[in-house]
Amino acid sequence: MCGIIGYIGKDNKAIEKTISCLEKLEYRGYDSAGIAYVFNNEIKIQKSKGRIKNLKDKLQIDTKSNCAIAHTRWATHGQANEINAHPHKVGNVTIVHNGIIENYLELKNMLIDNGYKFISDTDTEVACATLDFFYNKCNKNIIKSIDEFKKIIKGSYALGIIYDDDINNLYAIKKDSPLIIGISDESYFIASDVPALLEYTNKYIILEDNEIAKLTSDKYEIYNMEKIVDKEIKTFDFKYSTQDKGNFEHFMLKEINEQPKIVYDLLKENIDNNLEDIPSLINYDRIDIIGCGSAYHTSLVAKYIFEQQVNAEINCYVASEYRYENNFFGKNSLVIFISQSGETADTLACLRKVKKQGIDTLAIVNAQGSSIAREADKVIYIKAGQEIAVATTKAYTAQITILSLLALKLSYEKNIINNFDEIKKDIDKITEIIDGVIKNIDYETIALNIYERNDIFFIGRLVDYALALEGSLKLKEISYINSCTYPAGELKHGTISLIDDKTPVISIITDESVMDKTISNIKEIIARGAKSIIVSCIDLDDDIYDYSIKIPKINPFLQPIITIIPLQLLAYNIAYKRGCDIDKPRNLAKSVTVE
Ligand code: AGP
Repeated sequence: MCGIIGYIGKDNKAIEKTISCLEKLEYRGYDSAGIAYVFNNEIKIQKSKGRIKNLKDKLQIDTKSNCAIAHTRWATHGQANEINAHPHKVGNVTIVHNGIIENYLELKNMLIDNGYKFISDTDTEVACATLDFFYNKCNKNIIKSIDEFKKIIKGSYALGIIYDDDINNLYAIKKDSPLIIGISDESYFIASDVPALLEYTNKYIILEDNEIAKLTSDKYEIYNMEKIVDKEIKTFDFKYSTQDKGNFEHFMLKEINEQPKIVYDLLKENIDNNLEDIPSLINYDRIDIIGCGSAYHTSLVAKYIFEQQVNAEINCYVASEYRYENNFFGKNSLVIFISQSGETADTLACLRKVKKQGIDTLAIVNAQGSSIAREADKVIYIKAGQEIAVATTKAYTAQITILSLLALKLSYEKNIINNFDEIKKDIDKITEIIDGVIKNIDYETIALNIYERNDIFFIGRLVDYALALEGSLKLKEISYINSCTYPAGELKHGTISLIDDKTPVISIITDESVMDKTISNIKEIIARGAKSIIVSCIDLDDDIYDYSIKIPKINPFLQPIITIIPLQLLAYNIAYKRGCDIDKPRNLAKSVTVE
């Protein structure tokens, strides 16, 4: 993962600008941060464990410098400490790195044989030494030496590089990790994503795998095979919301509260034009959906909506598995890729794999201009606005909304429904309904009664099982409580042995067709002393729960959007009571750009 930034310009504000941009990339990892900057013709390095604010405390932000590279780390090789933090410097070369060098051990041995010594446990220091090795071998010809480096290195990387001997230039390369060049007045940036630069510029160039960028304060050159190439300058036109919590204590709570409007706007805009902007799936004989984490969970929700409501089969795959599996396609196959960030390494690798087979691809993405959005044949933006909390909420519901609209369109095309009149009535009420579920339920009291438990179980059947998986993931991510999720009927095949006196079990019941079955399973766990919490849109007898969260019943295409809200708020309130760092949980990062 990790976020990288670099700046070169005439205004001597390299430190101020790189740190400000780096703060926008903190979602990529916050184990440590560091900066290398040119000062009095020398490269100075400052690093700090933990958040970027720790680094800022060590810096004199207004120190004059015309060139800097900076980094926020999500540890892959070596613990999160100052020694392993980036930038790394070996010989003449200083770098920041995002990605994983796969052959770093082999290279390290070769470099040790050539007299290099290492102080950190990182693959990045090895990459840095390799660059220095070729720099010397190529008689200090930087472009040639970087080309040699690219030939030998295996894995993924985006690198910002500065050289002691060449402090008026900033170099950048990449392979399989995103890197863009930002273009501003008499200054240039490198960055892991475009939004990080929006305070200074929305003009950018996408660096490709085989290219080398050489940036000076008054010009940029992009090399391919030692020759300068022309590149298209793009403009990022999308608005990004400010990273401001407003009146909310956490971004997660703010983002939960943004859901009524996001969902309504998406539904209304598309239903008002009779789903014309929603792609038709009628001609596909096979539809697969790929994603990671919550994005994978949305695919499971879609599977049940398509299969139960539209009688259309959907296959769901976790991207980190799919990329190495033997994949099967139909005569007319579509593969849908779901990603909030649009940069998830495994999902992107699957997209590239599928495209090589000539299969149609559709991306459902939040981050505009991201790699997955750019590379898929078609993209639908979920328009959720920037999501800052690591635990996704509003992007998840917006993804489900788009998937429901795809299912709805197919349902219409298959003549299962003849018009959208019924669903329109529910869409008109949906803002009020979600708002009510957010505001009118006492989540705090339930949280108070279960937040000290070490295990919490989730059960459900069909679509409620898919939603339970997401509720459980939310809880694990932000509260660090161990949580298992099972299809309700599966619990007795082993896992029920874990249920003891007062173990909280959260059951979701919105599908009436299997309601009685789930109720029987709840009775089985109550008989073992469990504390029963039920989220349901159905009136239930009060002997099957200790706490009931009653939500409104709505059209089945839209019901999952309502059902997930209490699960998000339960996780939030439990994590709050446990005093957890809700927006930035330990060990996690918002965007997973390594496999
Ligand atoms: C969700 O709360 C998680 N942070 C995580 O599972 C996430 O959904 C997953 O990493 C996929 O990310 P993406 O949507 O950006 O591809």
